[in-house]
Amino acid sequence: MNQDQLKQNVAEAALKYILPDLHADTIIGVGTGSTANKFIEALAPHKSRFLGAVASSDATAELLRAAGIEVFDLNQVTQIAVYVDGADEANKKLHLIKGGGAALTREKIVAAVAKKFVCIADSSKGVEVLGRFPLPVEVIPMARSYVAREIVALGGNPVWREGVTTDNGNQIIDIHDMAIEDPEALEQTLNDIVGVVSNGLFARRPADVLMLASAEGVKTFSTMNTVSQDGNYF
Ligand code: 5RP
Repeated sequence: MNQDQLKQNVAEAALKYILPDLHADTIIGVGTGSTANKFIEALAPHKSRFLGAVASSDATAELLRAAGIEVFDLNQVTQIAVYVDGADEANKKLHLIKGGGAALTREKIVAAVAKKFVCIADSSKGVEVLGRFPLPVEVIPMARSYVAREIVALGGNPVWREGVTTDNGNQIIDIHDMAIEDPEALEQTLNDIVGVVSNGLFARRPADVLMLASAEGVKTFSTMNTVSQDGNYF
């Protein structure tokens, strides 16, 4: 089974998981990336069952509109029932690295508002220790070199993602070569550097539910229980 099929399987599993929570006034948060795009495809035929969506990027907003799903500005919305998005890495505490698609800041905002965050990925994204995937940091352009020096002082290897501008008009630094033993502490430390807009660690607000697809099927983990329904850890 290829990765594309796994992404489709987990997107369909997420749809099945959230369907009972959809009502005429429900707003859904929708993430960014190839797995989130599969979720939009799965969601589209059910658009009459909920009110609309808040998107975590301009690209996702465009796809949602093309699928006939109404897109709301977050400032028009007081509640997001559920947020469905992919990730670049996930650990057993459901802490995540996100931002491979440079949408981390809006993703973090939507996750903060959402009552429930359902993260969907193929099982290759499940790791013991976060950090093999370079950790994205969104920075105000004029602060890029200063932030990079501060990252070096923390023991990381910062690499500017040249040519990429975020939807917020900022730049991305990816931190390589950092085993992240304490994701919550590092998330806070990076946030405290002046010029950092946000970073791709989702540890202070982790996923509530993590669905990982492999050739054997989709396993569902929650923050209450990191053992899946079949009794196995990832
Ligand atoms: C975008 C993200 C994505 O969720 C993450 O990069 C995973 O993407 P994909 O589903 O394409 O593997 O955080 O900023």
